[in-house]
Amino acid sequence: MLWSLLSAEVANQNPVLLHGTTAAYFIAILLFILGIKMMSSPATARKGIHWAGLGMLLAVITAFVHIYFLGQSDPQLFLKLGLMVLMILIGTAIGWYSSLKVPMTDMPQMVALFNGMGGGAAAVIGYLDLLHGHGPVSLKVLAAAAVIIGATSFSGSIGAFLKLQRWISSRPITYPGQQLVNALLFLGSIVLGYLSIAGPTALNVNLFILLPLLLGILMTLPIGGADMPVVISLFNALTGLAVAFDGFALQNYTLIISGTIVGASGTLLTILMARAMNRSLFNILFGAFGKVQKGGEEEEKVMKEMSIDDAASILAFADKVIIVPGFGMAAAQAQHKVKELMEELEKRGVEVKFAIHPVAGRMPGHMNVLLAEADIPYDKLYDLEDINPEFETADVALIIGANDVVNPSAEWDEGSPIYGMPILQAYKAKNVFAVKRGRGRGFAGIDNPLFYLDKTYMLFGDAQKVVSDLVQALKKL
Ligand code: TAP
Repeated sequence: MLWSLLSAEVANQNPVLLHGTTAAYFIAILLFILGIKMMSSPATARKGIHWAGLGMLLAVITAFVHIYFLGQSDPQLFLKLGLMVLMILIGTAIGWYSSLKVPMTDMPQMVALFNGMGGGAAAVIGYLDLLHGHGPVSLKVLAAAAVIIGATSFSGSIGAFLKLQRWISSRPITYPGQQLVNALLFLGSIVLGYLSIAGPTALNVNLFILLPLLLGILMTLPIGGADMPVVISLFNALTGLAVAFDGFALQNYTLIISGTIVGASGTLLTILMARAMNRSLFNILFGAFGKVQKGGEEEEKVMKEMSIDDAASILAFADKVIIVPGFGMAAAQAQHKVKELMEELEKRGVEVKFAIHPVAGRMPGHMNVLLAEADIPYDKLYDLEDINPEFETADVALIIGANDVVNPSAEWDEGSPIYGMPILQAYKAKNVFAVKRGRGRGFAGIDNPLFYLDKTYMLFGDAQKVVSDLVQALKKL
């Protein structure tokens, strides 16, 4: 199927040029597919990123060669190529600088920005295709679909970025008739899309791209900051779809295949994340989860504190300790100290395991990436289903900056917003030590009864400082 698609283009145009570019595109596609396959395991993920990046570089160079040979009769060819190179250089510089500067905890908003740019590019390609108005109607319909989906994904991703960066409130923003307004904007986009295909004037096409841009922003308003990673993943899938539609409209098979890969993997990721939070996609998009509930004074319950020295002694004499990392470990960048703690405990013969919840932190694989960065061996990292039966036999569950992912309300309280969400059953351990700065809540904004259990002791403070103090105390024992 792939080869017949590629060959169709070869048959239509200059065979020498197209055999070369088709072969290069084919290799680029293989590199994308193999790269994504490698990203599915932490051991090969880094190599996968390099392979996919190489595929991208090859596809870009090939596109330039293609444009150069096909545009020989265009007097402005070098000006256009020069502008494209300039834009690529500016984009590369911004991307490179931000990837070095942005802390791991801000990675979700960076992904939102990068993804939004992809959606915007896909929308602009569809927009130009409609504006210049050539090609059969069926291809214009696909270009119009790319405009709607790409523009929605672009502005929606920018909205997600603004919320996560807290440049606008991360709380759900709702108003009466919100869904109706969004539905009308969507219908309006379809009508203007039809007009842009039937009679493409500059006014039609310009208005056509504006409506989905507005829709994307308004769609993200009622979604709380906590749900943003799922929404970003959904927009990522939509960007892939828009790119694939562009590929059909332009008859470019690299765009079709790479767009489809992104669309499919983004959809799978969205479903997996929603499942791990025990939420439906509908509930995430329209449920305004995390909205401040008014009224109902809460009684101030007591959290017992333990000294670092006492905690270190209990840890040192434990047989088995399960460490549960969460967003707070990421925020404090405590992973390297956590590794030192693991080594100190192992020196004393303590068995140390890490319990990884699929949505611990703020993005998929957040904890795995941080622990891998600190060189904590993969075989010490256990998924939820594998580690839950072990909590009963653990002397201490050491929770470092995690909250929602160990909240037993998900099992005990049918009225809780997270009821039914799979959790790490830290409450089953013989003792629970929880490292956090104070009484702050987790992402879901709800109280956690685990912190008030008789067997739970709090180690208050920034995770990096507390874990570092624990290491020092252990060394002195
Ligand atoms: P959270 O429930 O967000 O809890 C983090 C805890 O860390 C807070 O209670 C906070 O308490 C503490 N903390 C923050 N900064 C700290 C620091 N510097 N040192 C020590 N503690 C610190 O984290 P979690 O258990 O990892 O759960 C993740 C949440 O994000 C879930 O609700 C999940 O559904 C949501 N979410 C995740 C994803 C993905 S894909 N990972 C996607 C969407 C949503 P203090 O303020 O008292 O310190």
